[in-house]
Amino acid sequence: MKVLRSIGEWRRFRAALTGGLGFVPTLGGLHAGHAALIQRAAADNDLAVVSLFLNPTQFNDPRDLASYPASLEDDLAYAEAQGAHAVLAPDREAIYVDGFRFKVEESPLSRELCGAHRPGHFSGVLTVVLKLLNLVKPDRAYFGEKDYQQLELIRGMAQAFFIDSEIVACPTVRDADGLALSSRNARLDAAGRALAPRLREALACPGPDGQVADALSRLGFDVDYVATRFGRRLAAASIGKGEGRVRLIDNIPLAMRPEATHHDSGP
Ligand code: PAF
Repeated sequence: MKVLRSIGEWRRFRAALTGGLGFVPTLGGLHAGHAALIQRAAADNDLAVVSLFLNPTQFNDPRDLASYPASLEDDLAYAEAQGAHAVLAPDREAIYVDGFRFKVEESPLSRELCGAHRPGHFSGVLTVVLKLLNLVKPDRAYFGEKDYQQLELIRGMAQAFFIDSEIVACPTVRDADGLALSSRNARLDAAGRALAPRLREALACPGPDGQVADALSRLGFDVDYVATRFGRRLAAASIGKGEGRVRLIDNIPLAMRPEATHHDSGP
């Protein structure tokens, strides 16, 4: 597996590549959810490329950035074991050569749901994804459905800016008890880890979104939202306090809810 640390090195490497390229952008902190994306990229394409870039502009909370569990050495070994052919791992100055003067701004979706609770988050995500797609020039780029609002925004951006890469959505990977895999799960203490799968369970409960939010609050979650959008029920909620606080997001298709009729709460 080739590891490229500078933009110049990457560009020379990319120019020499032939064949279909599948791309998995990541923040690092790789887990089995990323493994599924990398394996899919390797199966669908001649080459699978992974980026490891802990993107500071999408972290509205500096403590969240500082505590993000990513280790370059571990991530490189993990990416290679999943079949990655190359890893792009640039530093912050190389990606933000403009000092983040130029940004992708979207509205209204990026200000709703997670965006309402994480100001600037989606501008950071869309900006870095556009930079990475322009550098990597993949035939296909793979994103998990766990971050469903992110996926919708990236699809919209790709369409709006005539990006040639196909945006491929991949199903959420879960632990045996239903908890959606996330790098942040590593920060849950024993009590938080025991509570966390109840988020997924609550999403599948009958009744309106408000009722589900109330039920989660009673269980001990600090709920940002429960909402029905994109033909899915989505939720974001935190467990714990202070330094130990961990924010979880999840969503399931409406078809997995027991009711017969559903109404989206937004466009
Ligand atoms: O979903 C993520 O891991 C990140 O938001 C992404 C898409 C790699 C952009 O930094």
